[in-house]
Amino acid sequence: MSDTFEKIEDIEIRLLLEALYVRYHYDFRNYAMASVKRRLRQAREQLGFATISALQEAVLHDPAMLPRLLGYLTVQVSEMFRDPQYFRSIRDKVVPHLRTYPSLKIWIAGCSCGEELYSFVILFREEGLEDRTIFYATDINQDALQIAETGVYDLDRIQIFTENHRKSGGKTSLSDYYSTGYGRASFDKTLRRHVVFSDHSLVTDAVFGEMNLISCRNVMIYFDRPLQDRAIGLFKDSLARKGFLGLGSKESLRFSKHGPSFTDFVREEKIYQRSGR
Ligand SMILES: C[S@@+](CC[C@H](N)C(=O)[O-])C[C@H]1O[C@@H](n2cnc3c(N)ncnc32)[C@H](O)[C@@H]1O
Repeated sequence: MSDTFEKIEDIEIRLLLEALYVRYHYDFRNYAMASVKRRLRQAREQLGFATISALQEAVLHDPAMLPRLLGYLTVQVSEMFRDPQYFRSIRDKVVPHLRTYPSLKIWIAGCSCGEELYSFVILFREEGLEDRTIFYATDINQDALQIAETGVYDLDRIQIFTENHRKSGGKTSLSDYYSTGYGRASFDKTLRRHVVFSDHSLVTDAVFGEMNLISCRNVMIYFDRPLQDRAIGLFKDSLARKGFLGLGSKESLRFSKHGPSFTDFVREEKIYQRSGR
């Protein structure tokens, strides 16, 4: 790829991100640029456009193109009980604190297709906390949220979900929660009894409740540093006193200006607790 082509492509990418924001209020302007670039190149090629400008024109004039492009710009990789040690720490160390509250609000931010949400609901059911809890499951990707709301996954993913559940200290069998058919596993609708699904962006939206625990894993890795700070500020303002924040294994509060508002709770698992400051 020539230097000139790359420079022009950089301009086109900036303009496309601006267009997405002005037209649809999706704001990717402060996402980590290397990954945005890679994904837009892939979208351009696979959707059959000669240039990013042509892709921009299509998405501006055809709203049906938006979800297709969002499919490239957001990453939906997930698993139930992903990083089982994280869920073991939630179970063994965080749950004893949560047990002392008569009612709980839990926010799974960037819930993708629901894998992380169902992990929390199952864990809370096993620990006898489900009935006193409201779970908020949010994401910017509507297609992913829709899958989360149906709770149906390919059967070939169940083996890893089951292993993870066991390693996380699961007290029941995962098969208690789903039925199978047509190569799919459908998770029980009773698991959604206490769940509110909602479109919410960590970039453009605000606080919507006072949470006891926020789990936001593998979302901020796609943001640049100032945007990470914006999201962490949102979590800080959304957490009740002594509320918990869990991040992904590659994420941390170490470089955030909001770091002093939190203390390490389970350092290895990136679980923090909101302090008074
Ligand atoms: C890699 S998935 C993480 C799924 C799950 N949290 C996990 O750790 O397995 C990242 C999710 O973040 C969502 N996302 C990206 N930007 C977001 C934003 N600004 N606000 C909320 N969610 C966002 C994506 O749509 C995607 O579903």
